[in-house]
Amino acid sequence: MRWEDLDKKYIWHPFTQMQTAENPLAITKGKGSLLFDKKGNTYIDAISSWWVNLHGHSHPYLAEKVNEQMLNLEHVVFAGCTHEPAAQLCSRLKKHLPKNQEKFFFSDNGSSAVEIAIKMVIQYWHNKGENRNRFLALNGAYHGDTFGAMSAGARGLFSTPFNNYLFEVTHLPFPTEKNVLDNLKTELEKGEIACFIFEPLVQGAAGMRMYSSEILDKMIALCHEYGVLCIADEVMTGFGRTGTTFAVNQLKNKPDLMCMSKGLTGGTLPMSITTCNQKIYNAFLSNDLTKAFLHGHSFTGNPVGCAVSLASLDLLEKQKCQDNIKRIIKSHQAFAEEIKNHPKIDNLRQTGTILAIELTDENSGYASDLRTRLYKHFLSEGILIRPLGNVIYILPPYCITECELSTVYSATKKALKL
Ligand SMILES: Cc1ncc(COP(=O)(O)O)c(C=O)c1O
Repeated sequence: MRWEDLDKKYIWHPFTQMQTAENPLAITKGKGSLLFDKKGNTYIDAISSWWVNLHGHSHPYLAEKVNEQMLNLEHVVFAGCTHEPAAQLCSRLKKHLPKNQEKFFFSDNGSSAVEIAIKMVIQYWHNKGENRNRFLALNGAYHGDTFGAMSAGARGLFSTPFNNYLFEVTHLPFPTEKNVLDNLKTELEKGEIACFIFEPLVQGAAGMRMYSSEILDKMIALCHEYGVLCIADEVMTGFGRTGTTFAVNQLKNKPDLMCMSKGLTGGTLPMSITTCNQKIYNAFLSNDLTKAFLHGHSFTGNPVGCAVSLASLDLLEKQKCQDNIKRIIKSHQAFAEEIKNHPKIDNLRQTGTILAIELTDENSGYASDLRTRLYKHFLSEGILIRPLGNVIYILPPYCITECELSTVYSATKKALKL
């Protein structure tokens, strides 16, 4: 049997109505920004394969480091054992993080990193004997698909069957709306707030919705006045997407906890980390085991994941990669300038290497006809882009060439005529 038929026979794909879905692209190879399918088609990966890939597909340096680590130590239980790649990775990451981030807890996907941050917050207040059981998040938030992460996220299409099982979270107006600080203050005054969780500067799944560092700075400062812990979910924004290594590097006020995944391994292997400040960590220290954070996953701190994360940081820190990030930012700016007055564009926005083009179309949901038409259009132009409803966005690997970017821009201009 052809392997595509085996796929059809056995595989249940994510976010997919299997009854009506068309056959998935049968990808056989990736190189740089390109993906190749079994039929001989080539696609520019303009969305970094679910926002994970930083340096291009099948990068030889990353492959070499994976191979090296595999031959030395592929995995070991992380409770009671440790290894050098994990320790070195934390020490390297520390240099890129706000100074207050002191401790690192490993897991293996973005939702788990968020779940862990929420559990840490809940147990922090529990250990301290303070009754804080209310949570704040932003309208439109997406923090993942596990229950805690879903609870923090907006209620909607994805959460509907589960809404009755999610814990209550107060969703604040999106920070570009008026009176957001007054609203936040009202909630804080009601008391008992454990934490405020947010995607800093850019909400990914909501349609690459963007807001300023100034307002976020004020929101964090206000939360801190009330002793509320702040969680920055950098799962999507981390590792250079917003122009700085982390979005929170653009803030004066720092979060208490951070979640990272996706770009952590350069997009090669599943891994995530939740970091926190010393104050939170200290609240778990005791002679009493029940005060400890009794949480873990089989693949926590996987050495191969750590080794490839270190290798990805090697590449990210190189001048060449930093220049590429600046180049993409400039190219996006020039393209945005070129199309900004197009009548089909309702809103055009950019933060760092992320460019989002929101179309003026009423029929704009995740499952909308427009979204499907746009997706197919880009494929026919040899580009992989998965629009979020009526929002086309470009979030490329940093190695994308100017020529590949202009192909993506031309196809975007054609999409405006659809
Ligand atoms: C901001 C944010 N948080 C959490 C997640 C969940 O990450 P994962 O898909 O690895 O579980 C995502 C995924 O897109 C995300 O964008």
